[in-house]
Amino acid sequence: MAAPAASSSQAPEEEKGGAGEDRPDARRRRAKPFAHGGSLGVFVLVAAALVLLVLPRLPHSDFYGLVVLLRQTPLAAAGRKGGGLCDWFEGKWVWDEERPLYASEGCAFLDEGFRCSENGRPDRMYTKWRWQPAGCELPRFDSINLLEKLRDRRLVFVGDSIGRNQWESLLCMLSTSVSNKSTIYEVNGRPITKHTGFFVFKFETYNCTVEYYRSPFLVPQGHPPVGAPKYVKTTLRLDFLDWTSKTWKDADILIFNTGHWWNYEKTIRGGCYFQEGDQVKTKMSVENAYQRSIQTLFKWIHKEVNRNRTQVIFRTYAPSHFRVGDWKNGGRCHLETLPDLSPLTLSLEPWEHYLEPFREVPSENFTANEVLEMDLLNVTQMTARRKDGHLSRFYLGISALAPLRRQDCSHWCLPGVPDAWNELLYALIMQRESMMRKNMAIMGTTRIKLAP
Ligand SMILES: *[C@@H]1O[C@H](CO)[C@@H](O)[C@H](O)[C@H]1NC(C)=O
Ligand SMILES: *[C@@H]1O[C@H](CO)[C@@H](O)[C@H](O)[C@H]1NC(C)=O
Ligand SMILES: *[C@@H]1O[C@H](CO)[C@@H](O)[C@H](O)[C@H]1NC(C)=O
Ligand SMILES: *[C@@H]1O[C@H](CO)[C@@H](O)[C@H](O)[C@H]1NC(C)=O
Ligand SMILES: *[C@@H]1O[C@H](CO)[C@@H](O)[C@H](O)[C@H]1NC(C)=O
Repeated sequence: MAAPAASSSQAPEEEKGGAGEDRPDARRRRAKPFAHGGSLGVFVLVAAALVLLVLPRLPHSDFYGLVVLLRQTPLAAAGRKGGGLCDWFEGKWVWDEERPLYASEGCAFLDEGFRCSENGRPDRMYTKWRWQPAGCELPRFDSINLLEKLRDRRLVFVGDSIGRNQWESLLCMLSTSVSNKSTIYEVNGRPITKHTGFFVFKFETYNCTVEYYRSPFLVPQGHPPVGAPKYVKTTLRLDFLDWTSKTWKDADILIFNTGHWWNYEKTIRGGCYFQEGDQVKTKMSVENAYQRSIQTLFKWIHKEVNRNRTQVIFRTYAPSHFRVGDWKNGGRCHLETLPDLSPLTLSLEPWEHYLEPFREVPSENFTANEVLEMDLLNVTQMTARRKDGHLSRFYLGISALAPLRRQDCSHWCLPGVPDAWNELLYALIMQRESMMRKNMAIMGTTRIKLAP
């Protein structure tokens, strides 16, 4: 796969060691980010002025107003420009003194590796940006309100470690309103550490769980069938969903993501090939296998999930930002302290391949059995602008700084960018709640074509 962003999401974590070998160099470089302080002040002033200019013209979407609009318009138009509807996913990052929404020191649910500021990252600007949609306001994230909505319910993340990044962010965002933190616990007593299968965190007062299932490919990986060539060490079953799916298919909210493992390094290079039925497809490309696995996911949702009960959301690909190389040959992002704030639209071309299956189709052309309606947490464009938000060298804990040549420009510092994804998640959850209250039969805002 040629995509620069295809670099492994996990490799930096898996390849610890060598930390500290270039510390002096690191100190010199680490002082640099402060140099942006002056221009930032100017930027804030300009940004504030712009906000003042623009605000009165926004439709002031009280959020429920938006839903009423949706009702009057064909569903497929939801999220489109021009129809008077708001596309939450198109907009810009704006400076907000009231960010971040929580402090990593105050949240027990974060992996050590995501605690950038505790691990020595000197700048804090990356925690201060709020996502502002172009045409309307997002509802303000209200953790008590969300916990009330989740009462007696299950919210489940399924995906790779970037999904875990988002899940941990949500645990922190929710826990800010819970004063007795002992009422939040993992039901099996598992400590938050890397590379375990799943976690079920319970918020006792609300009898709800917020769960994460590690499944980087979403489809199962296993032994090859008898008679497969010797070089085939494992296979990915492209025609089945992860075996753990039976434990979460009845959850109330399901949030999927995948992408960072669908590359040559994480599959064929290690002898992992693709299988359909009892056939090992030794010639199949990783791209093709990815597309097929997504179709398997769509068909599974269509067939297995009671959509009246379960809200299904797919979070789109979150771009990495390795510069001059990738994770294994010196790619870096540690000097990035500002988002890309240019007004030009960023090209999503490097990640087209990941986005292709999620292209919206015109609803009038297909019958209900030919399309899947679901909610898309369409974060790719907004996230592409956040080269400043990655762990870079600060993923080894408080005692060590990763060497310059071993940076993590895939995962995100917390608090940070995944908090903004969760604010959008909040908007999607509240939108559906509001529709349900009005007895509207709405299964999602995006229509996707199912393969025959
Ligand atoms: C996702 O968002 C981008 C940027 O706003 C947009 O170009 C794209 O069409 C969206 N995708 C879908 C399926 O809505
Ligand atoms: C807690 O929520 C579960 C569903 O997740 C439900 O089955 C159970 O009855 C609830 N318990 C109480 C005490 O309400
Ligand atoms: C906090 O919650 C725990 C677990 O439910 C409980 O045992 C403890 O008494 C609570 N503490 C306070 C101060 O309410
Ligand atoms: C969808 O249907 C419209 C008319 O209803 C037609 O003009 C258009 O070509 C169709 N698009 C596709 C992709 O079939
Ligand atoms: C889901 O709800 C719709 C009406 O809103 C109803 O027609 C349909 O039968 C329901 N499906 C299931 C599986 O309950």
